[in-house]
Amino acid sequence: MLSLNSIMKNAYNKGVVIPSFNISYLPMVEPIASTLKNLKTFGLIEVARPDIMKFGAKSFADVAKYYKQYADKNFVRLHLDHIPVIDEDGKKVSWRELIKDGIELGYDSVMIDGSRLSFEENINVAKEVVSIAHEKNIPVEAELGAVLGHESGPILPYEELFATGKGFTSVEEAEQFVSRTKIDWLSVAIGNIHGSITGIAKDQPKVKARLNIEHLKKIKKVTNIPIVLHGGSGVHRDYVLEGIKNGISKVNVSTEVRQAYESALREKPGDIDNAQKKLSLKVEELIREYYNIENSVYLITDL
Ligand code: 13P
Repeated sequence: MLSLNSIMKNAYNKGVVIPSFNISYLPMVEPIASTLKNLKTFGLIEVARPDIMKFGAKSFADVAKYYKQYADKNFVRLHLDHIPVIDEDGKKVSWRELIKDGIELGYDSVMIDGSRLSFEENINVAKEVVSIAHEKNIPVEAELGAVLGHESGPILPYEELFATGKGFTSVEEAEQFVSRTKIDWLSVAIGNIHGSITGIAKDQPKVKARLNIEHLKKIKKVTNIPIVLHGGSGVHRDYVLEGIKNGISKVNVSTEVRQAYESALREKPGDIDNAQKKLSLKVEELIREYYNIENSVYLITDL
């Protein structure tokens, strides 16, 4: 069975995307895992600290337990998403312990988020995570630039953000960051924003983000490693597809799948089966109609 790093490299070289679905509630694991398998699509199940702190994913150990129970590794692997050094509320996080715990729990890859640090501090933290994870053959994702949206305060109006390039990943820094840290996958900010995780905004549709494809092409040229798109929910489809042709190999999707699950539960309170069915339909729609990646296992894995 191929390693996740090799599968991601295949995705990068062939212009195929690996969708990565966040688990905000534990019963989301089973329908996501089974839909990926039914559609012969390779994807990731991932969980970030906000899924645990602000929603119902409970713990990294619980998600790993459900993953082991329901997922087939030929189709789905487990990713530790967003371990921030400083979180969205400005608090320091014991990131070293969380990364080590995640690896012990069997996560197949990890993401360190040093995007709220200075460039040099971000490099130092990413290097340390690489040394911890690579020893166990675990690939590392890190973020450069700032994918805004998780913070509780207001962010710039979207059009202003896109036009000014606020928080965008710098091409020069990206080149240095990748060569100095030896990370495996780079999370970039090129117009993408995270869906809100607080207040009433967390229940509303996200702004339809666009991507600066010319900027992405420049980042790809100097980094030459798989690029990750955070804030995958609700990005304008044409831009996502163009991005995938230009180096985006992993797209993180949280808001869209969480809202599908939550709104079904609001309609029929307590009916988990119904919410799981609605979630499966959402995942199926994304795979078939949005990314058009049904049967991707035959392109990027050794099945
Ligand atoms: P969305 O909630 O905007 O889909 O972003 C998900 C994400 O990037 C998780 O890391």
